[in-house]
Amino acid sequence: MMKFLLSSRFLLSLSLSSFLLIAGCNFSGLFVHLEDDPVFVDPTAQATPAGGAIAAGGPGAASFAKICASCHQGNGKGIPGVYPPLAGSAFANGDPSVPIRIVLQGFKGKIVRDGKEYNGLMAPWKDQMTDQDIADVLTYVRSSFGNTGAAITPEEVTAVREKTKTQLSGWDEASLQSPL
Ligand code: HEC
Repeated sequence: MMKFLLSSRFLLSLSLSSFLLIAGCNFSGLFVHLEDDPVFVDPTAQATPAGGAIAAGGPGAASFAKICASCHQGNGKGIPGVYPPLAGSAFANGDPSVPIRIVLQGFKGKIVRDGKEYNGLMAPWKDQMTDQDIADVLTYVRSSFGNTGAAITPEEVTAVREKTKTQLSGWDEASLQSPL
């Protein structure tokens, strides 16, 4: 019984003191920021660096860096003979359903780009990326590296996802050349 009392009092005082500690930090932090540095507590001021980066590359820039750049490289030029370039790619810039299908279900088989042969396999991303993610990353690709393709909307991705839901393996060049 004594042991129990002791330990629960101990726990109580522990949680009380940590509450005071946390509350104290917050209050003093607030005071310091409000009095000495009002800009620091302004959330829009804190968001500026990220906001600037997003304005420059669009929301797809981060996904591109995280997912696509490992193969297609940060400059979109790929690796000759291994990963084809997205810079200047007709498939990336043309009919939106083509790059959407490539990212949804993947792409495989022999292709020739800028005189180089590729016979690789790009994995499907349909289970990892939302329609918004795919629209953002493709809009980034189509407006970077000197590309001039129009932006792609999440609605376009949703429509292509719906139309291609029975496509279980990656596309090859011939199957992408026929319109959806
Ligand atoms: C693991 C490596 C890898 C990753 C990651 C990858 N790709 Fe690919 N991608 C390939 C390969 C390999 C091909 C060519 C497949 C072939 O040889 O048929 C390709 C082809 C393409 C093409 C067609 C290019 C053309 O001109 O035919 C597009 C568009 C494309 N990828 C976009 C993307 C986008 C967008 C992402 C990120 C969401 C991405 N890829 C991520 C390996 C990758």
